[in-house]
Amino acid sequence: MVNYKDLGLVNTREMFKRAVAGGYAIPAFNFNTMEQMQAIVMAAVETKSPVIMQVSKGARNYANATILRYMAEGAVAYAKELGCAHPEIVLHLDHGDSFELCKDCIDMGFSSVMIDGSHLPYEENVALAKKVVEYAHQFDVTVEAELGVLAGVEDEVSAAESHYTKPEEVIDFATRTGCDSLAISIGTSHGAHKFTPEQCTLVNGVLVPPPLAFDILHEIEKKLPGFPIVLHGSSSVPMDEVNTINQYGGKLEAAIGIPEEQLREASKSAVCKINIDSDSRLAMTAAIRKHLAEHPGDFDPRQYLKPARENMKKMYIHKIVNVLGSDGKLAE
Ligand code: 13P
Repeated sequence: MVNYKDLGLVNTREMFKRAVAGGYAIPAFNFNTMEQMQAIVMAAVETKSPVIMQVSKGARNYANATILRYMAEGAVAYAKELGCAHPEIVLHLDHGDSFELCKDCIDMGFSSVMIDGSHLPYEENVALAKKVVEYAHQFDVTVEAELGVLAGVEDEVSAAESHYTKPEEVIDFATRTGCDSLAISIGTSHGAHKFTPEQCTLVNGVLVPPPLAFDILHEIEKKLPGFPIVLHGSSSVPMDEVNTINQYGGKLEAAIGIPEEQLREASKSAVCKINIDSDSRLAMTAAIRKHLAEHPGDFDPRQYLKPARENMKKMYIHKIVNVLGSDGKLAE
């Protein structure tokens, strides 16, 4: 059993309180590789932002759970080496699908976990989330739970259709589970193909997706004043990255994300954690494809992973500064 505090990590409680009060959101970036981890830490240190580094079940299967845990510990040391005396880094389990998985993460030093019972009948979702909260809170680990279903595919989580969160359920759910934050469904979805072209409107040659259901978000805020709300599926799928991928041999058709203005607006509300994974994948792939196309003789991974890391770092900084507004928000 390792406690996250011994690894220099923090839970989400204080940073969420400040984010809700301050009208900004904390970035939650997924990572699977060393380059993603380095880029996240460099971006957070340069912008003086708290950051959530999250690991999905798929990431644990890909990179090995123990290695990821040590990478998070390394992230804290690296942030300090880069000049940040008191980094605020959360190691979070994204989309935990069982009590056992959440317990395993808590026992190995995660400071925050998500239990995703959103696909279960309501009472089962409540019971599962409550069980995880009871275990996690013994170690001061914070818990995110979810109500409502997001469409899309992400690692091992997929749903064909979205079901918006029902505001009439949120008080009962938050009270009975004791969760620390609530992920809601208001029209975001996982992956780089969030909407079909048919769901969008064509404005000046650009496909504009349907707006997020801000009315539902505001109703939820009224029911749970000041309670931390989480948005999953919030990549904006930048067209320049998609175009670079396609220009250098890729084939990404109809890739559509959430417009950044809408995420900016959401960040000003009780939404205090915004999950971004696909944009990092796109930034990495675009840079690697471009590098290899322009330097066909290169075969040392460092030659193409360096620009990939730079491109991800640029994207993370952009999100922190221009979309979520968490720059300069480290605790005094
Ligand atoms: P994106 O696929 O939009 O990046 O969403 C990631 C996410 O929500 C991780 O839980």
